[in-house]
Amino acid sequence: MRMFDIIDKKKHGKELTREEISYFVKGVTSGEIPDYQTSALLMAICFKGMTDEETAELTLAMAASGDEMDLSHLSGIKVDKHSTGGIGDKTTLILGPLMAACHLPVVKMSGRGLGLTGGTIDKLEAIPNLSCSLSMEDFFHQVEEIGVAVASQTASLAPCDKKLYALRDTTATVDCIPLIASSIMSKKLASGSDAIVLDVKYGSGAFMKTEEDAKKLATIMVTIGEHCGRRMDYVISDMEQPLGQAVGNSIEVNEAVRMLKGEGPQDLREVVFQLGAKMLLLGDIVSTEEEAVKLMEEHLSDGSALEKFREMIRCQGGDASFLDTEELLPLASYTKEILATEDGVVTKVAADIIGHTALDLGAGRTTKDDAVDPGSGVFVCKKVGDKVKKGEVLAKIYTSSEDGLLEAQKECAGAFVIEGQSR
Ligand code: URA
Repeated sequence: MRMFDIIDKKKHGKELTREEISYFVKGVTSGEIPDYQTSALLMAICFKGMTDEETAELTLAMAASGDEMDLSHLSGIKVDKHSTGGIGDKTTLILGPLMAACHLPVVKMSGRGLGLTGGTIDKLEAIPNLSCSLSMEDFFHQVEEIGVAVASQTASLAPCDKKLYALRDTTATVDCIPLIASSIMSKKLASGSDAIVLDVKYGSGAFMKTEEDAKKLATIMVTIGEHCGRRMDYVISDMEQPLGQAVGNSIEVNEAVRMLKGEGPQDLREVVFQLGAKMLLLGDIVSTEEEAVKLMEEHLSDGSALEKFREMIRCQGGDASFLDTEELLPLASYTKEILATEDGVVTKVAADIIGHTALDLGAGRTTKDDAVDPGSGVFVCKKVGDKVKKGEVLAKIYTSSEDGLLEAQKECAGAFVIEGQSR
C-alpha cells in the first residue's frame, strides 16, 4: 500500500477501505508517514468528506492506536461526559462532584486547552497543589473511594489523535466533522466508559458554527458510540455568548464552586442540569428527567455536591481551604473594567472575542508548551438580554502583566453590542 495512492483516492472523493484507514493510522502513530503526506490527506478529507463507515473505521483505528482502558472492575455504570469545547465551559467541574454525590461514578480523563482558553485540567490545576497526573492505580482507587476522579489524558491514550490534532491545528483542518468526530470518539472509546453524554456546542465560540452542523456532529458520534456498544446521548448547546460569566481558570473554578453552593448563572445551571439528567438516566440512577432534576437539586442544596468537590480536591493533593472563603481563589492583580458607552439592551456578547481576550490575557495557550496564567481571565457582567445604562460595567478583565492590558480592554469591548431600548 502507498500513502500517495490513499491521498489520490480521497482527492477524487472516493471511499477509503478499512485496510487503507488502518494503514494510515498505524503509519501516523509509528511516525513512518511523513507530516506532509498526513497533512495532504487531512486536507483532502476536509474537502471531500468521509462516509459514516469511513469515519467509524477511522475512529476505531485511532482508539486502538494506544492503550484502551478497562473499567469493568469498577462498580456501577461508568458515565463519561464530553464537551466539543467552548468559552467559559466549566460544566465538568460541577458535574463530576454532583454526579458522584448522586451515586453515579465519574471516571474522567480530560485534556489541557485545545482552543482559546484552558481545558478542564488547566482549570483544576489552578487550585493550589492539585494534581491531575494520577497513576492508574490512584485514579481507580479514588473512584472506588469517593466516586469521582479527573485525570489528565496519558500520552498513551489514542496517540494517533495527538499527532493528527497537532497537524490539524497548524494546517487549518480542525473544523471538519469526520475529523472532529473521530478525534473525540477515539479518546472516549479508549477511556472505557459504559455510557457517554456529549455536549455539542454551536456558535461563534465553538467549532460548529450552526445548530444544524452541531446536530450532524452529534448524530455521527452517537452512531459510532452505539456501534461500539456504548450507551449514548447528547445535548446541543448555544455558544454564541460565553457560558456563565467567568472565562479563565481560577475564575471558572470560582463560578463552579458558586454553582455547587446552589448559586451561579442561569444559563450555566440549565446546561449542567440538561447534561446531568442525561448522565443519571444513562447510568440507571433515575428513570425520568424530573427525578434527575429533583435529585440534583437536593444534592446542590444539602451541600453534598460541594463536599464531594472538597473530597476530590483533597484526594488529588489540592488545598481545598478556598471553598470556605468569601473570595474563593485569588485572581490576577491587574484589572480593568469595560464600560457601556450608551444606554440600551445587550444583544450580543461574542464568545469568540471574549475567548481571544482571555487568551491574550494569559488564560489559554498558543502553543502546547505554553504555561497558562491561572488568575487571568474575563468576568462577563452583562449578558444578552440585560439592560444597561451608559457607564455601567459590562465586563472585568484580569491579568498578571500590565503589558497589553489596554489592548485587551479594547478587544473585550468589541465583543459587546448594545442596541437602543426602543428597538
Ligand atoms: N475536541 C477534540 O478532542 N478533537 C477535535 O477535533 C475537536 C475538539
